[in-house]
Amino acid sequence: MPEFVGNLLVAQSGGPTAVINASVAGVVQEAAKHDCIREVYGGLNGILGILKEQLIDLKQEDRATIEDLKHTPAAALGTCRYKIDFKKKPGQAALDMDRLFDVFLAHDIRFFFYAGGNDSQDTADKIDKEAVKRGIPLRVIGVPKTIDNDLPHTDHCPGFGSAAKYNACTVMEIEQDVSSMATDEGVCCVIEVMGRSAGWLAAGTVLAQRAPADAPHIILLPEIPFNEGSFLAKVKETVDKLRYCIIVVGEGLKKPDGAEYSANTSRRDAFGHPVLSGAAERLAELVYGKLNTKTRSVKLGYAQRCAAHYASGIDAVEAAACGAAAVRAAAEGKSGFMVKIVRTGSAPYGWTTGLQPIGDIALVEKTVPRDWISADGFMPNEKFIDYCRPLIEGQVNVPVEGGLPKFALLLRKRVPCKLGKRPKAG
Ligand code: F6P
Repeated sequence: MPEFVGNLLVAQSGGPTAVINASVAGVVQEAAKHDCIREVYGGLNGILGILKEQLIDLKQEDRATIEDLKHTPAAALGTCRYKIDFKKKPGQAALDMDRLFDVFLAHDIRFFFYAGGNDSQDTADKIDKEAVKRGIPLRVIGVPKTIDNDLPHTDHCPGFGSAAKYNACTVMEIEQDVSSMATDEGVCCVIEVMGRSAGWLAAGTVLAQRAPADAPHIILLPEIPFNEGSFLAKVKETVDKLRYCIIVVGEGLKKPDGAEYSANTSRRDAFGHPVLSGAAERLAELVYGKLNTKTRSVKLGYAQRCAAHYASGIDAVEAAACGAAAVRAAAEGKSGFMVKIVRTGSAPYGWTTGLQPIGDIALVEKTVPRDWISADGFMPNEKFIDYCRPLIEGQVNVPVEGGLPKFALLLRKRVPCKLGKRPKAG
């Protein structure tokens, strides 16, 4: 019997993706192979549920249900955006840390896996450092996840390939519609995609282009400050030539002064980021107002991050592999790392997993390099295309029932609570 033995806890955090559940499946399936892991628990709604001692017993789930997680979108365990904020809420943060370790100790949690983006990796990093400080035997490994693809050190993030694939396909379909309606009066469509401060998702729609005149005709990235004059000139030039113009905008598009084009400054999320919404609508009004061209806006919104029906096969495989790699790393005695994807070749595409100290990842955002974007700033170039194309390859086989997808449904059998209520700062 190994010396370091205990229970495992996995949780999901931040905005969901089409494949984040595949990472949980990877964790659960790999855990069964290691003698050092006894019980396998899931934390409901990320760190927030763990603070409330809301744990479920994943060993009670059918094996087939765990396998079905690989084609089930969003966060089957529930997710949250909750920050343990020592700067702004030191009292609550201290209580939270104590409470987390009370929960870990009460349930003999020795292995903790947190699947999430930048802010969630920061939470994992804090927990790992705190465990070391307190001398508590806990192994913490981050599992990468975000459609935004903005985590540093990893070649790309699970979730991105699937969202990029869906978005590119949707741009192709919208082009079929808009071009078929185009007359000499001209018509435009502005499509808004997510990706708070990085343009990876917007850039990914370039894959929709099969020929030079294909949509998208303009891609507005948060990396390139918006220039109204050159944008309108490019729209007019495209409409004059093709009778229609399809524009893709990343929700985090910036004005020349650095402020977000569509930020609602009065609303912030739990991590303090401004709530972004409405870039496409504003641009559509601008185009109609200045060029008098009929313009519609389309927001791909949540649809792009949960489109399991059109997920990327390679993305789902990599997401599961990241979960499994996290368990292997912890079983080998490692802690304080995030699993990363390492590209070993582009043509043919090859990859493996590696480990990076979580402290290098937490709160750092990776943006699209300037030399992956055309000189006029309106289109990602071949370097980006070579990087992105392999990530959308392959399909996920989603079983169908009555003509619609059949998703996994967890039993969510609760682990009995051992502690009182979560203390709150006064
Ligand atoms: O998870 C990242 C993300 O998808 C961003 O691209 C987007 O800005 C954000 O989530 C929106 O999340 P929500 O509206 O669910 O808070």
